[in-house]
Amino acid sequence: MITLPRIPLAHLPTPVHPLPRLSAELGGPRLWIKRDDLTGLAFGGNKTRKLEFLLAEAQAHGARTLITRGAIQSNHCRQTAAAAANQGFECILVLTGNPPKTAIGNTLLDQLLGAEIIWTEGEDPEETLTNTFDAAWSDGRRPYLIPYGGSNPIGAASYTAAMGEFMEQDTPVDRIVFATSSGGTQAGLLVGAQIHRFSGQITGISVDPSAGEIVPTITSLATETAELLGLPETFSEGQVDVNDSYLGEGYAVMGKPEKEALEMFARLEGLFLDPVYTGRAAAGMIDLIHSGEISSKERVLFWHTGGTPALFAYAEELSLTNPTTS
Ligand SMILES: Cc1ncc(COP(=O)(O)O)c(C=O)c1O
Repeated sequence: MITLPRIPLAHLPTPVHPLPRLSAELGGPRLWIKRDDLTGLAFGGNKTRKLEFLLAEAQAHGARTLITRGAIQSNHCRQTAAAAANQGFECILVLTGNPPKTAIGNTLLDQLLGAEIIWTEGEDPEETLTNTFDAAWSDGRRPYLIPYGGSNPIGAASYTAAMGEFMEQDTPVDRIVFATSSGGTQAGLLVGAQIHRFSGQITGISVDPSAGEIVPTITSLATETAELLGLPETFSEGQVDVNDSYLGEGYAVMGKPEKEALEMFARLEGLFLDPVYTGRAAAGMIDLIHSGEISSKERVLFWHTGGTPALFAYAEELSLTNPTTS
């Protein structure tokens, strides 16, 4: 159905399976998980899907160098570096902050993948990105800019396709819950829901922006994605369900709810979440179940979007609650 050029990077379809022990522990809603942590590229994650389309565009433009930006533990940057290595592009990552003494988690993997890292060191990240791009251009490196989080209509279209993939997996659910941040995943799923007639609720748990900031972005991105795909659908803010009640102490600050969610998934299902994105989204889902906002009769899909390498950057905070070491 989606005819945009695409470079295969992901192992698709990703599995869908039930979470019986977690469902029982939470007292009701039947839970399933879609394993986009198993997309296969450099420890997987949702960005692999977006990069399949974005790299095809980069290639069509005759690009030689991929440039993008993100936080120090950015999964998007790690996956971009891996896709670049896999397809023979050079890769420049603009990472927020100062170089760490020891690279851990995603940053370690960025280095291993051969990415050139520019640290913003107190500068405005967007400005550093623009300067980096201009310098690469003047040096004849034929740069291609991948937007923050891979979230433009080309990247988001991959989640329109992913919704089609899920619908073919024949697991009827009333609601999909996942982590939302730059909005491309949610925008793509919304378009996919229209095309593939998914009538359930699509609930993005924000890990960073307030709903007031991100809902307009997702709304326009969904409309632009539909337009790119030649579809007549337009979207309004009322169709975009973002819950921003779980921002805790801010982006990438792992609190008690995230730790508890990580432990529940690990100890009941043998599954790893990450402290920043999927841990927060799962904590939100668990709270919505406890409060009854998600009823015990609902069938719910938790869409795992990856991020697990960041776990290793949180070893100290995590070991505090580990009963075997405390
Ligand atoms: C693991 C993980 N989950 C979810 C997201 C959010 O996806 P999006 O930026 O498309 O909203 C990200 C974004 O970086 C991510 O790394």
